[in-house]
Amino acid sequence: MVDLWLKDGKIVPENKLISIGISNGKISVIKKIAPNREEIIDLKGLVILPGFIDAHVHFRDPGLTYKEDFRTGTTAAASGGFTTVMDMPNTVPPTNTPAAFKEKLDIARKKSLVDYGLHAGVGKLEDIKNMAKLGPASFKLYTDQLDDDYLKQVFQGIKNIKDNKVNKTPLITLHCEDKEIVEKKTQIQRKKHMLKPEIFAEARPPEAETMAISKALQLADYYDLDIHICHISTRKSLELIKSTKDGNYNVTCEITPHHLFLDSHFLNKCGNFAKTNPPLRGLRYKLDITNLSSIDIIGTDHAPHTIAEKENDLWEAPPGIPNLETTIPLLLTEINRRNMNFKLLKSLLCEKPSKIFNLTTKGYLKEGYDADVVIVDMKKEGQINPDEFRSKAKFSPFKGFKIKGSPVMTMVRGNVVMEKGEIYKNKGKLAC
Ligand code: DOR
Ligand code: ZN
Repeated sequence: MVDLWLKDGKIVPENKLISIGISNGKISVIKKIAPNREEIIDLKGLVILPGFIDAHVHFRDPGLTYKEDFRTGTTAAASGGFTTVMDMPNTVPPTNTPAAFKEKLDIARKKSLVDYGLHAGVGKLEDIKNMAKLGPASFKLYTDQLDDDYLKQVFQGIKNIKDNKVNKTPLITLHCEDKEIVEKKTQIQRKKHMLKPEIFAEARPPEAETMAISKALQLADYYDLDIHICHISTRKSLELIKSTKDGNYNVTCEITPHHLFLDSHFLNKCGNFAKTNPPLRGLRYKLDITNLSSIDIIGTDHAPHTIAEKENDLWEAPPGIPNLETTIPLLLTEINRRNMNFKLLKSLLCEKPSKIFNLTTKGYLKEGYDADVVIVDMKKEGQINPDEFRSKAKFSPFKGFKIKGSPVMTMVRGNVVMEKGEIYKNKGKLAC
């Protein structure tokens, strides 16, 4: 028994019309023509894609909910075409104990509109084993805050889990900026008593990133563990990662929309609204859309803050950019401009995130998979307007960017969560 038919969606790149039958939240049948009896949503030839998966969001819940919470964050996700999100552990308290992890699971279960996973942090080394039992999306390590020796011990702790074979070996995800270099350069820059945003960027130079990546690759090799490198910002970083890609262990990497589309000039234009870690890079260093086919995934690094916080001085203002509602329109615009294609979009935001984070029922429009679907209107034109964000963080360095192409419907396991900008109730579930 089919509960609902999605009729006449255009699959891409094939450019064929199909109809999808959904039962119990799963795709149960895909046909050319939908029968005319059950409940039907007529897509009238709009493009149909697997729901997008964002492996990197900061929802600030618990502890910092004045910036964002699981409800507003997942509302922004649904609005932006995302059906699964994975939340980072730098909340208050940090998600680095079994109790904090369980507390966040409870919050997500109560408030999430889309499906979710949670990344775990690492606090006490002895907690690693019990955290692993709770099935985190990954252990996230911020190398700008951790000494080399401690990093080594964390890898050793996760290696022990691998050797004991009791639990699945958790993936390690890394924020790569070398602590020592960042601390040294920050001291130098702060002494200059200048408050230009470039000064902040120079405190976290490209070599801090490449150094941290080199060290992470060495650890992954030595301990034989898979790693995922978050938000790479330079071509050198990508080269380094690619040069080791045929090693025994798996290394994957991610780029954010801001490191992809913006450069350090935006620090002047937007001030702290463009302040982020790692910083936006100059044209000499930065990655661009021609590099996308060598990068595994796009993560939004949705990092909401209040406007008042961002209006603080250079050193006080927190880094981070909210991106759940900019990413897909920006990428669809690039498809319209023929700078990228749907095959790559699906790989970066559906298939590869599903593979890396082991989401076995997500990422594809296939029979047996979850009915997580996004419908996009490739003709819809507009501008990025932060005032219209569902996120609490109503700012963006992309403000005013012209866009052509937007999500118009988001469906999570057969339930419409967003249609034409309207949000509908849904109960998100743990996806991994
Ligand atoms: O810019 C950033 N903002 N980089 C991070 O690593 C953290 C994030 C945040 O949580 O605001
Ligand atoms: Zn982040």
